[in-house]
Amino acid sequence: MIRPSRLEDRERIIEICLASFYGVSIDHNIEEKFGLPKDSWQEKKRRSIEKELEKPELVFVAEEDGQVVGFITTQIDGDTGRIPNLGVDSAYRGRGLGKALIAHALDFFRQQGLKLARIETLDQNEVGKNLYPKMGFQQVALQIHYAMEL
Ligand SMILES: CC(C)(COP(=O)(O)OP(=O)(O)OC[C@H]1O[C@@H](n2cnc3c(N)ncnc32)[C@H](O)[C@@H]1OP(=O)(O)O)[C@@H](O)C(=O)NCCC(=O)NCCS
Repeated sequence: MIRPSRLEDRERIIEICLASFYGVSIDHNIEEKFGLPKDSWQEKKRRSIEKELEKPELVFVAEEDGQVVGFITTQIDGDTGRIPNLGVDSAYRGRGLGKALIAHALDFFRQQGLKLARIETLDQNEVGKNLYPKMGFQQVALQIHYAMEL
């Protein structure tokens, strides 16, 4: 079942998010290259997901046996819907929940009358690179991220 998130889902969503983005986040890459900063990639990710959870109606969860096992966040910008974060508990992957969460977000965008949906992934994220074109997204740009020590 996929439903809008509720305030009480908050900690579980953060838990899935932090577990899911291990190895597939730019801040984690930076940490691997330059060492651990004061502010770990998990802390940065937690802040960004907490910001999104301030609007729980824009976050959707997949629930199985009364437990949240996946989530997707959405943002609306003019006539465009964005999907900044998506994660499924590793024990529940490969069963179509990721696809179902994206399909749900796309339906939500259509219901809002939006014209375009956007999502992004890292080149190192094989799942994202497979999944998004499969859902109908077309590649429009590649970006390179740089960092240096000061
Ligand atoms: C991305 C994620 C949400 C997918 O969740 P999921 O429930 O396993 O996804 P699904 O079962 O719906 O699989 C959908 C598609 O993903 C792709 N996929 C899944 N596992 C894959 C793997 N190990 N390698 C490559 N592609 C894979 C396939 O295209 C698959 O479609 P198929 O089953 O028709 O081949 C999940 O892997 C996850 O949480 N990953 C870590 C966080 C992340 O990368 N989030 C997205 C950031 S851009």
